[in-house]
Amino acid sequence: MTDWHDVAAESDIPDGDVIGRIAADRQIAIFKLSDGVFATDAICTHGNANLCGGFVEDDGQIECPLHQGRFDIRSGKALCEPLAHDLAVHPVRLEGGRVFVQLKPAA
Ligand code: FES
Repeated sequence: MTDWHDVAAESDIPDGDVIGRIAADRQIAIFKLSDGVFATDAICTHGNANLCGGFVEDDGQIECPLHQGRFDIRSGKALCEPLAHDLAVHPVRLEGGRVFVQLKPAA
């Protein structure tokens, strides 16, 4: 059983935006979309770019700041070139105004 990590206050995350956190030495991106809070790995699967510096699109996609690859935030699915690998998505639990993330094993 993987531990849950307390990574942020829910109020730390602006609506429709992303913040970066470190949990268990791993860089995590925490998103607040219209239907909830989501967490993914923060480092793009194409290169060494941090997605927290990218653009959160209205339709729940994150665009990488380096080569504009786009991922579906909810599923982690890689949506376009140059991406060849999906992004790890981590389960999120909200409790008492805090955001907890359960890290999936690194790929
Ligand atoms: S590093 Fe993200 S698309 Fe290239």
